[in-house]
Amino acid sequence: MSEESEFQQAVRANIEALGKDAQLKQDTLDWMIRAGGDHNYSYNFSWLGRPIIQYPQDIVGMQELIWKVKPDLVIEMGIAHGGSLILHASMLALLEYCEAAETGSVLDTSQARRRVLGVDIDIRDHNRAAIDAHPMSHRIDMIQGSSIDPDTISQVEAYSRDYSTVLVVLDSNHTHDHVFAELEAYGRLTSVGSYCVVYDTLVEDAPDEYFADRPWGKGNNPKTAVWEFLKSHPEFEIDKEFENKLLITVAPDGFLRRLA
Ligand SMILES: C[S@@+](CC[C@H](N)C(=O)[O-])C[C@H]1O[C@@H](n2cnc3c(N)ncnc32)[C@H](O)[C@@H]1O
Repeated sequence: MSEESEFQQAVRANIEALGKDAQLKQDTLDWMIRAGGDHNYSYNFSWLGRPIIQYPQDIVGMQELIWKVKPDLVIEMGIAHGGSLILHASMLALLEYCEAAETGSVLDTSQARRRVLGVDIDIRDHNRAAIDAHPMSHRIDMIQGSSIDPDTISQVEAYSRDYSTVLVVLDSNHTHDHVFAELEAYGRLTSVGSYCVVYDTLVEDAPDEYFADRPWGKGNNPKTAVWEFLKSHPEFEIDKEFENKLLITVAPDGFLRRLA
């Protein structure tokens, strides 16, 4: 066995052991709830200058997913300050850079074939202006509207028709009904072999008092929506290995891989 294969085998064993370490999982959850719930830890980061409301582990996780899937379109519900759109756009730009390097061709940045489509019910003027002014903006398009509005759904569907490898990210309103409706609307746009990432499934695992001022909480959140969706969508499965590898993630049971 090559050294590389041996290393990969050791990593897989690490991940399997992590997945079985109930105490470490509980300690991680306790830490995340304190850091996120008491200190808004996920607000502390930016990607290429734009605030991104994610944990660093999930940002690295997205990098791995984009490298593995090599999507030509990332669709995301929930823009906020735009950091996650810039993250996805920058990863797609790197894919094009790597393709050019591999084929010895000149990278034409004006082409921006791989694109990001973001949807938000309220794209604040200052956020839109900052996203538009960013060097990655030429591969980003945005739609303002509720992600579950039929008009938004048809616009996203029409946009996605020109793309063959699509990765979907759901990070908007975190109630059960909303996320379930998003899964029904956008899950099917996920290409076979790609992922539909559902963020903030962690709400189900946190004490209710952390979401007292929110419309979501235990029993009514993205994780319960995923569970209901999977009952009638065997074409998706939860990628537990991915979640176990990250350990620190706001998306437990939220990395949905499309199988068929
Ligand atoms: C958690 S933030 C998104 C964070 C962003 N994805 C990031 O990683 O930086 C949630 C966003 O969802 C938006 N939102 C809330 N309800 C929505 C809806 N019905 N449709 C679309 N977006 C919605 C909010 O305006 C807010 O900007």
